[in-house]
Amino acid sequence: MISSTMQKSLNDQINAEMYSSYLYLSMSAYLETTGLAGFAGWMKSQAQEELFHAMKLFGYVHERGGRVILSAIDTPPGEWKSPLDIAESVLAHEEKVSGLINGLVDQALAEKDHATNAMLQWFITEQVEEEMTASDIVNKLKLIADSPNALFMIDQELGKRVFTMPAESAG
Ligand code: FEO
Repeated sequence: MISSTMQKSLNDQINAEMYSSYLYLSMSAYLETTGLAGFAGWMKSQAQEELFHAMKLFGYVHERGGRVILSAIDTPPGEWKSPLDIAESVLAHEEKVSGLINGLVDQALAEKDHATNAMLQWFITEQVEEEMTASDIVNKLKLIADSPNALFMIDQELGKRVFTMPAESAG
């Protein structure tokens, strides 16, 4: 059985992952208006991946006999200055989420909740990848500066990403 304090923290993290999904979907919608369909598609896949993160926690709370309590999701921003501004915002957001996951691990260790700690290790590894991917896009967009041709190429590359929801999210 999960503690009431850990249950509250995991419910908060479900909300944070739902917000991440909402934020990235908002970025996708904005990018659609700029003609960058590839980057918009990439952000939409990222939004779906964040939903998967939320559902992974949703399933885990139930597995431990806990109660999922959903709360309001904040309104995300709807405008950005440039594709680089979006990529930098994604990186900053992922760094913030990594901090939240680290805080959950600290709490699990303090509570000697080894099962939650083990589950969270997946998120620790995932955050390394998420930060690396966002950082890679930031660096590429910085490299091309104001070249429309290079931006077109990057957009094509980002558009190749497809996210398929893993079956375990049904938990
Ligand atoms: Fe769910 Fe991008 O962290």
